[in-house]
Amino acid sequence: CGIIGYTGKLAAAPVLIEGLKRLEYRGYDSAGLAVVADEHMYQVKSVGKVAQLEAVAGQQPELKKLAGCGIAHTRWATHGAPSTLNAHPHLDESGRFAVVHNGIIENYQELRKHLEGKGVHFRSQTDSEVIPHLIAGAYEGDLLSAVAAALKQLDGTYGIAVISSLEPGVVVTARKGSPIVIGLGEGENLVASDIAALLPYTRQVIYLNDGDIAAITADKVDLRNIQNVPVEREVAKIDWDAGQAEKGNYPHFMLKEIFEQPETIENAIRGRIDHEMGTAILNGMNLSPRELALINRIVIAGCGSSMHAGMLGEYYFEDIAGISTSVEQAAEFRYRNPIIEPNTLVIPISQSGETADTIAAVREATAKGAVVTALCNVVGSTIARESGRGVYLHAGPEISVASTKAFSSQVVVLLLFALLLGRNRRLSRSEGNELADQIEQIPELIRSVLLQAPEIKKIAERYADKEDFFYIGRGCLYPTALEGALKLKEISYIHAEGYHAAELKHGPISLLDERHPVLALANDIPGKDKIIGNIQECRARKAPVVAVITRGDSAVRSMTQDVIEVPPCSRFIAPLPTTVALQLFAYYVAVARGCEVDQPRNLAKSVTVE
Ligand code: G6P
Repeated sequence: CGIIGYTGKLAAAPVLIEGLKRLEYRGYDSAGLAVVADEHMYQVKSVGKVAQLEAVAGQQPELKKLAGCGIAHTRWATHGAPSTLNAHPHLDESGRFAVVHNGIIENYQELRKHLEGKGVHFRSQTDSEVIPHLIAGAYEGDLLSAVAAALKQLDGTYGIAVISSLEPGVVVTARKGSPIVIGLGEGENLVASDIAALLPYTRQVIYLNDGDIAAITADKVDLRNIQNVPVEREVAKIDWDAGQAEKGNYPHFMLKEIFEQPETIENAIRGRIDHEMGTAILNGMNLSPRELALINRIVIAGCGSSMHAGMLGEYYFEDIAGISTSVEQAAEFRYRNPIIEPNTLVIPISQSGETADTIAAVREATAKGAVVTALCNVVGSTIARESGRGVYLHAGPEISVASTKAFSSQVVVLLLFALLLGRNRRLSRSEGNELADQIEQIPELIRSVLLQAPEIKKIAERYADKEDFFYIGRGCLYPTALEGALKLKEISYIHAEGYHAAELKHGPISLLDERHPVLALANDIPGKDKIIGNIQECRARKAPVVAVITRGDSAVRSMTQDVIEVPPCSRFIAPLPTTVALQLFAYYVAVARGCEVDQPRNLAKSVTVE
């Protein structure tokens, strides 16, 4: 799941362990590293956390001293259970070639059978292990060529890093469908699957394209494209700093990221509102007013929280701009053969820009001739690059697996885009300015929710022993309910389901009793009266109710003690302060249950395999 490689003047092992720690947030179940020094291959692996790997490595004090080069990996099990044997790096039989691999090798069984037929002995159950054996078989004195020859035999996806005791100081890396970025240092170079691992060492990076392969040494990068032709690539500069990816005084990244939202939303809005024209400026869209006016349908594709943001986009684009919009789970988009016409705009949404299904959706949309504009947080990510146009969220690194600040920035950027499209068609200048003013108030509204964290914590603690939850909402608060339920289940392992409030009577109500609390989004916006009716139905079945209400609104107070107040705002804006309240609720429930908030079990920060 996470890859880091190093070659240069420092002892490789401590750099690799530090890099793995910065990749921990992605989610993993085992870890390992291999180092080449003095023409020897050293290897350490362990199940569990990087701290365990560090402890095992600590028992080999020579590892701390060895200069040279190395590769390391955190694994999230796909083929084969989490175990030391299945952890990467994988070595060939002679122990001279070590490989770390992200992705899935689809023809590995066939390759394995073939290699076993030739007498090769496999140690693990992973698909990845075929790679070092293939490299060893192809090696004729040049590691880069041997890796290229091995990769030609693979079907599937990979991001890899390879070292060999026969070529100390060389790390070969390649990518097809799984991200790899090269970090350029002074007298040292690195490779990683994620820029977070590189931040302490460099901000100068080269993103590999699919099919690229490179050999890096301390002072050189030899980069080839899929035709094995040497290529020069633009060096990108990362504007995140290492401190942004650290916890500071917060106990968890998730809490830090929740509290960052007033600021991250300001960053998403900055320079993007034009009060003169009452519209939004989204230069990265690179679409003229004429091109915008031709768009007659929008399809949004994403996964997880990004898909929930997209569902809000549907309300915004239809209601504000009058453009027919649909939202697709990205995997459905790629396999369902969607209808895309010349004037369809496809908006992939992805914090990481690396989610496999969303990348595939971008490719499908591009192949069908759609205009594709992506919403991504990670600059230079695959989706951002392949879409060629779009809007960056500017939320800074999101480390907690459960998305918070990236989600709220996605929603804000969708609002800005709806404003732009709305002004491009049916909104007057003053209507546009009214919406722009509301958007600019969002950071303040969120600050006021954050001030109530202690009250939300108290309510959360009262509910922390429940095992099932329903979240209900209507209108823009329906996707908000889905997102709130997702947050709770991700980090507290409580079964939580988001439902449209009107669907209660179509099934879930049969479950309601004192053990099934309902979190009802009863903000004072259109639909409130109906939600109040739903709350009464829940109370009649003895289900405890936690209600989110608009500050000062007494309508729900008599029905439940447990209310979370959010400041008054319009129906379009209400999802934002409400989501922040639900993030805090989920966070405090998870803390009360003693859960590992930032790295929930079985989850990965970005799902780069199907
Ligand atoms: C994973 C993460 C979620 C995220 C989803 C989509 O499931 O755990 O928090 O919403 O992937 O990720 P993306 O990077 O495409 O937004």
